[in-house]
Amino acid sequence: MPQFPQSMRRTAVLVAITTILPSACAAPADKTIEVGKQIYADRCATCHGVNLAGQPDWRTPLPNGRLPAPPHDASGHTWHHSDAQLFRITRDGLAAIVPGYESDMPAFAGVLSDKEIRAVLDYIKSTWPQQEREYQRERSRADTES
Ligand code: HEC
Repeated sequence: MPQFPQSMRRTAVLVAITTILPSACAAPADKTIEVGKQIYADRCATCHGVNLAGQPDWRTPLPNGRLPAPPHDASGHTWHHSDAQLFRITRDGLAAIVPGYESDMPAFAGVLSDKEIRAVLDYIKSTWPQQEREYQRERSRADTES
């Protein structure tokens, strides 16, 4: 019984940490990621997978010679590209980066706003482990386009 007040206090502290703090600290960035997550589910998940795992055998070309959708998680190579490249690929398609390249990746210009494209990319980036995030940040810094 002497423990009772203390455990009560601990519960109160836990409640404060888990419920009050996150809502008080909710940065706009968190909201962007939430929005991006929804856009991903609506627009990208059919090909790139609900869990960003891509299509099976994504390195092997399909009978039509095109590549399946690669994963957006750490096992893929999305994190090898700078912010500017990822933005252009998503808005204008891969041919914007590699002229003449034929791909099943749609261009989202006119479908998603620039802000929505940034949000979905922010969501994808938020799922990467620290190392991939740092590598990608460096690539973005080095890319003068951004
Ligand atoms: C109809 C299927 C399809 C949809 C929907 C789709 N993609 Fe893709 N995506 C692909 C395919 C296929 C590739 C690989 C193309 C290739 O390399 O030829 C690709 C490649 C990419 C790449 C390049 C990845 C890399 O490592 O080079 C990015 C970035 C990308 N998609 C982002 C998105 C985003 C963001 C969305 C949602 C807004 C999306 N894709 C929706 C099929 C799709």
